[in-house]
Formats: sequence, structure tokens, C-alpha cells
Amino acid sequence: MRKFHISTFGCQMNEHDSEIMAGLLLEAGYEMAKSRSEADIVIFNTCSIRENADKRFFGTLGQLKKTKMARKDDFTVCVCGCMPQQKHITDTIKAKYPWVDIVFGTHNIERLPALLANWEKDHSSQIEVLEDREAISEKLPACRLYRHKSYVNITYGCDNFCTYCIVPYTRGREKSRSAQAIIGERKDLVADGVKEVMLLGQNVNSYSSPSGENFADLIREINDIDGLERIRFMTSHPKDLSDDLIKCFLECDKLCKYLHLPVQAGSNGILKRMNRKYTREHYLQLVKKLREAVPDITLSTDIIVGFPGESDEDFKETLDLVNEVGYDSAFTFLYSIRKGTPAEKYKDQIPEDVKHERFDRLVEAVNSSAEKKNAAYVGRVVDVMVDGFSKNNHKALSGRTDGFKLVNFEGDSSLIGQIVKVKIIASNTFSLEGELV
Ligand code: 5AD
Ligand code: SF4
Repeated sequence: MRKFHISTFGCQMNEHDSEIMAGLLLEAGYEMAKSRSEADIVIFNTCSIRENADKRFFGTLGQLKKTKMARKDDFTVCVCGCMPQQKHITDTIKAKYPWVDIVFGTHNIERLPALLANWEKDHSSQIEVLEDREAISEKLPACRLYRHKSYVNITYGCDNFCTYCIVPYTRGREKSRSAQAIIGERKDLVADGVKEVMLLGQNVNSYSSPSGENFADLIREINDIDGLERIRFMTSHPKDLSDDLIKCFLECDKLCKYLHLPVQAGSNGILKRMNRKYTREHYLQLVKKLREAVPDITLSTDIIVGFPGESDEDFKETLDLVNEVGYDSAFTFLYSIRKGTPAEKYKDQIPEDVKHERFDRLVEAVNSSAEKKNAAYVGRVVDVMVDGFSKNNHKALSGRTDGFKLVNFEGDSSLIGQIVKVKIIASNTFSLEGELV
């Protein structure tokens, strides 16, 4: 039996696509290898969001050439995900890595078993990259990363065309899955032990089912599923965050009181050039409304530093916004030019040293805010969904609060997958330490 290994780069959509590909391959009779070095079939599910993701990938791919040359037709190399959706990348793979056997994109992952079977017949290279998805494939199996948590796609693609972003080109036009398919999948997963669901989409707030349900309607329907304990979602766009969704935080007991709300920049001039379609004032108003409705909601965000044309004054507005909002955490990124996006053509690119200097100042502000927020948890008892053993200390368990705070504490493996009470005894910038109550 041939063994496969999938390396996943990038976001939760890619992680979930990899879970589905693993499910498909297990169903087709392949076995999962424990590591890449034990695999006969190596699959790279790639990310294109920033340039260093591309560079890292080509570095890793290059390392496989020796194995491919030695094992030849006994070894299969597949590249899929966002990178092959760009023609210049597929051309590079063909020209510089001709020994790659199978290439496909984001729109046809369900074709993997067939492409593999074709390759196994005559070892001819299989390249199948589609422009967009024709229809949404339902009833795909998934081999979940966790028994007690699962991802579920609710929308595919993105129509927002933020001027820095490659996603609309790699993931295609926005399409919503039917609410019945989502609810049906949820019920099956709950029967299989899933307690927490993460609803996935580039912009979940613009979910609109073929039968007319919006995102808030969907949350309410999922909240009614017996046996499910927690609902999360990722990612929200501020321009589409409705009052009705804010109401859901109050009405739906399973909806976690946590929101990831990417702001990207604090200056109206930059937001406009980014094509974000909201202002700083609108964003701050949303935060105010959310906190009035749900005072203990935790908030995180994404911020880009050094977007073309960003002046010292623009950057200061971003810093001020971070201090004003007081985020629980934030992902900070150096602007990275993406081929084919409008911002690639902007003439006023920011020098690297300026970007880095601003980035360091931003990280300092974000960390200081996170530290303060975490320190306020010391002494409190929180409900933690136990995910597994801590990555840094294999004797400690780790899990998440309703508000997505990472908590480490001592306990045994029988607690994995359960929600337990933990008293917080210390706090760090990125996590909390606790003891079982
Ligand atoms: N450069 C830097 N960061 C980017 N992101 C998206 N495109 C780029 C880019 N070209 C960031 C945004 C987005 C997150 C997933 O990645 O902040 O919200
Ligand atoms: Fe990219 Fe903007 Fe779409 Fe998010 S909303 S995926 S940043 S284009």
C-alpha cells in the first residue's frame, strides 16, 4: 500500500483542503505516512499570500529532487493549492522542477485520487489547474486534525479585491454553500464526536445561501444543533459585519465571544487605496457596538505595515488605532508585492528599512496590549476546551477559552476533547497558565 504525506502552508482553508485530500486518499486505499521521509507520495498544499511563502515553498520543494531522482517512478511529487493558480508559478514548476508529477489548484482538490491513478498508469505528468470552481462538491470525506473540532467551509473565494491581495485570483469568485448542506455536515460531525465548529470563508459575513439565508440566520440554525458546544468563524470583513450578527453573540449560547476583525490600516487614505470600503471611524464604531453588546468579547485583527504610499502620519494612525481598540492579539504583516494585484503597480513602494522600523513599533504596541489583556485573566476561572498536549511542554495540556485565549495547565490525556474549568494563575504575552479546578 502506498503511503502519502501532505505538507500544508497557509491559512485554515488550506488546512481544511488538506483534511479533505487526506480523507479522499484514505478512502481510495492509500495509507497515511507519519512523516515526509516515510512517504511514497508527497503533496505540497501551497500558499501565495506573501512572497516569503513562495520562497519557502520553492526551497522545500528543491530538497525533494534528490529523492525523486533516486526513487524515480516509485515516488510521486504533487503540488497543489494557491501557488499553481498563478500561471507564472505553474510555468516555473514546469521549467525548473520538471520532475514534479502532479500539479493542480484550489478548485479541484477532489480530483486528486483520479490524477494519482492516471499517473500510476503511465507516470505521465498530470497538470490540471482550473480557472474557477464550476459547482461546489458536497459529501467529501475529511480526515480531521482533531476529533473534537472541525472546520466547515461556508463560502469559497472572494470578491472584495483588496488591492494588495492575491486571494481573489487564487481562490476565485465568492460562492456560498447551501445551508442544508452545511447543517447536514454539522449533524454528521456532531454524531462523530465534534464539539466545536469553525465556519470558514474569506468573508463569512457576506454568506448568502441559495435559499436566502444570511450569515446570522446560519449561525442561529447551527446554534440549534444538539450536542454541539462551540461555534467559531473566520474571517470577517468590517464592511459586512451586521447588527444582526452582533445580536447573535447575545442570542446564541454556543457562539464564542471572540471576533477576528481585520482592520489592515488605521488611516482612511490607506484604507481607500487598499479598497477596504470602510473608514477608521466606521471600524471604531463597530468595535464600540460590539463591546456595548458583549463587554467581555475578545478581539483580534490583521494589520499590514508599509503599504505603498504609507506616510509616517498614516502609520501613526494605525498605531493610535491599535492603542485605542486594545486588541487581545494581532497578526502583523510587512506589505509584500503580489504579482497581478493593483498595488503591484503603485509607484510609491515603501523602502524595506522603513517598513521594518514601523513593523517593530507596531509589534511592540500589539504585544503590550495583549499582555495587559491577558494579565486581567489572572485569578479568574475559565472554561477551556482541551485540544491536546502543549507544543512547548509535552507534560502540560493546552486548550482554548471561549474567547480563544490559549491556556496551558497540568492534566492527563483523558481530558483531551473535553471542556474543563481552569483557574488562571499567570499570564504571558501569547498565553495563560492555569490549574485545573
Ligand atoms: N502583503 C502583506 N500582507 C498581506 N495580507 C494579504 N495580502 C498581503 C500582502 N500582499 C494579509 C492581510 C490578510 C492576511 C490573511 O494576510 O492582513 O488579512
Ligand atoms: Fe484578500 Fe481582501 Fe478578500 Fe481578505 S477580503 S481575502 S484581504 S481580497
